Amino acid sequence: MDNTGAAVTAQKGIAVVGSGYVGTVMAACLSELGHTVVGVEIDPDKVESLNKGIPPFFETGLEELLTAGVTSGRLFFTDDYQLAMDRTEIVFLCVDTPPGTNGHPNMNSVAAAAESIGAAIREPHIIVTKSTVPVGSGNWLEATIGAALPDGVDADVLRVVSNPEFLREGSAISDFLHPDRIVVGGDCEASVEKVAAVYERILSQSFEGGDPTRKPALLKTGRATAETIKYAANAFLATKISFINEIANICEWLDADVTEVAHAIGLDERIGPRFLSAGVGWGGSCFGKDTAALASMAREQGVEPLILDAVRRVNTNQRHAVVRKLQHHLRPLRGRKVTLLGVAFKPGTDDVRDAPALTIVRSLEEKGVLIRATDPMVTELTGAPDIKIFSNPYEAMRNADALVLLTEWPEFLDLDYSRVAETMAGNVIIDGRNALDPESVMSAGLVYEGIGRFASRK
Ligand code: UDX
Repeated sequence: MDNTGAAVTAQKGIAVVGSGYVGTVMAACLSELGHTVVGVEIDPDKVESLNKGIPPFFETGLEELLTAGVTSGRLFFTDDYQLAMDRTEIVFLCVDTPPGTNGHPNMNSVAAAAESIGAAIREPHIIVTKSTVPVGSGNWLEATIGAALPDGVDADVLRVVSNPEFLREGSAISDFLHPDRIVVGGDCEASVEKVAAVYERILSQSFEGGDPTRKPALLKTGRATAETIKYAANAFLATKISFINEIANICEWLDADVTEVAHAIGLDERIGPRFLSAGVGWGGSCFGKDTAALASMAREQGVEPLILDAVRRVNTNQRHAVVRKLQHHLRPLRGRKVTLLGVAFKPGTDDVRDAPALTIVRSLEEKGVLIRATDPMVTELTGAPDIKIFSNPYEAMRNADALVLLTEWPEFLDLDYSRVAETMAGNVIIDGRNALDPESVMSAGLVYEGIGRFASRK
């Protein structure tokens, strides 16, 4: 296999800087669509495995696409910015922006990438921000990259465009290839058009597996507007979840069932059915970080983010709902054995960033609970390394006083409840995702309690 990228020299390709979730998915999908792509990654070990088609994390379908891209010669990875800039004209910036201080994302990786890009630019380049960066970062990037340009290279070679991503972990490839909309924001019309053209086959859905009856919308906006759209989209989704969680908490005291309430209100087209599943709340790398960042941007501008603050508080409280339920059933809690079914922040991923499981483990540990966990993909809970994670759920629940479903993995939805009842010492099942069938659980003589469902607070 030729990993030097010789095949890419024939025409100006696309650079994708950063090989995290977004960058790797993007590089693989763009090469699948026929583009020549150079992935830039500063970690040489990652570069080596990516060039063998091995992704640095699990994402459904990614390994196949990566392997196909690398084998075709249209995709290769390098840690050499100069080589990447010389062979490309459009550069997608996909480096990580982890949570920083005061709600702001940590921009160290973006700053480092910007300087490396600037130092390697000799000809016109369009830099496209995919990383979720605070609104106004386009201006800052222009200045940072501009300041790093080699002597004699005019700042006019540079255009910065915002093109936010809306990928969900676990379905990132499908989200990339079948988006609802593509947003491209910038002041230079020609650059916006060039970036939009990268997505031509997605916009027309003219690739194998494309659905021409569901073509995505293309929205061309100002740069700050595009940057804001990303934050607003995630904040709204987080708001929907916190809203239904608040309704669930009210349902518990009114003898109403939130799953039926959510279904009924979701049938109203103005509301829509999705992101109305009550449970232990949202986690993951985006919602917490982005709502915090938007709230701090608002405060900086003198706007009080009343709704965002409430959405975040509801989510934090919601994680403790299952702890309160355990306290109710297992009083006193100290010394009790509790098994967590799932620790990933959602099914289909091994990601535990900001997972509700972390908060719940900390709270239960403080109360002297003995915790075990089971997860089909996670083997270690970063932040709580002492928690033993079993791959077999029955092994994990041996002699447990209670089970708590935190991630609705398919494996946990059709457990043999007679076997569960025999294996556990106690009989309590807390369904933190409202994903189990209460009748099946109860018919095995077990006690079922969901979030905002009937019989939740008897
Ligand atoms: C999210 C956005 O969906 C995506 O567009 C953005 O680019 C990145 O952030 P992701 O974090 O991968 O994607 O997960 P998502 O599927 O949106 O779920 C986020 C969290 O919300 C999970 O913890 C999930 O369990 C929870 N959730 C989701 C609910 O609690 N209830 C719901 O109804 C939906």
